[in-house]
Amino acid sequence: MSTAPQDGSPVLRMESVRKTFGGSVVLRDVDLEVAPHTVTALIGASGSGKSTLLRCANLLEEIDDGAIWLDGEEITDPRADQDAVRRRIGVVFQAYNLFPHMTVLDNITLAPRRVHGASRAQAEERARELLERLGLSGKADAYPDRLSGGQQQRVAIVRALAVRPRLLLLDEITAALDPELVGEVLEVVRGLKDEGMTMVLATHEMGFARDVADQVCFLDGGVVLERGTADQVFGDPQQERTRRFLRRIVEAGRL
Ligand SMILES: Nc1ncnc2c1ncn2[C@@H]1O[C@H](COP(=O)(O)OP(=O)(O)OP(=O)(O)O)[C@@H](O)[C@H]1O
Ligand SMILES: [Mg+2]
Repeated sequence: MSTAPQDGSPVLRMESVRKTFGGSVVLRDVDLEVAPHTVTALIGASGSGKSTLLRCANLLEEIDDGAIWLDGEEITDPRADQDAVRRRIGVVFQAYNLFPHMTVLDNITLAPRRVHGASRAQAEERARELLERLGLSGKADAYPDRLSGGQQQRVAIVRALAVRPRLLLLDEITAALDPELVGEVLEVVRGLKDEGMTMVLATHEMGFARDVADQVCFLDGGVVLERGTADQVFGDPQQERTRRFLRRIVEAGRL
């Protein structure tokens, strides 16, 4: 079992992380600290490295240099148990990836039962509790294709939460949704923040990032060019590139 430190030491820490794909550098000396019960928003243009950073944090990508710690344990140490690390991190991506041939309840209870050794009764109790909290209590026995995109994405969030993760990584979870469905999913994230979940999210929803994030990191060409509180980064950006990025967002009517 992981022993989660109760002090303020970071849940996730990255130091000088470097990631290349076929010779091109995608993350360059990235440092990141995520304190418990905080939300970190990764913003930046398409291709700036947000998803890659999240995938490295979850060990879906192997880093070329640097190190990553989860609750003080170096997870990039070759001796680390990668499966055990992934069990402590919940991930939700843009495309919800629910299994179409399984009911909502079975989608959610699969990992707790198969990977975490929960009994069916335990797993279903937790699943129903989460579905209720996310306003989906009537959908347990439905198949994913009978749900709206927003509902499917909320099920994907329930599925990630079902294993009681220490850290939740959310990659553009509203990007595939019709505009009228975005709000309900963001509302769920806001609720999780209120409950103290530690999260790192990549998002193009700047208004949301500004509203929910404790820390905002602006990525530019694989570098965290600027970071600070939402008020600092959005209200008083120090770097010309950050200003230019935000100006484009404002011009596009997205902030
Ligand atoms: N598996 C891969 N193989 C080769 N290059 C990759 C791979 N994954 C990502 N890249 C490259 O890494 C860079 C960063 O990509 P990444 O997906 O992290 O960007 P992003 O900030 O998430 O962009 P978006 O906002 O479009 O989601 C891009 O130039 C991309 O082409
Ligand atoms: Mg991305």
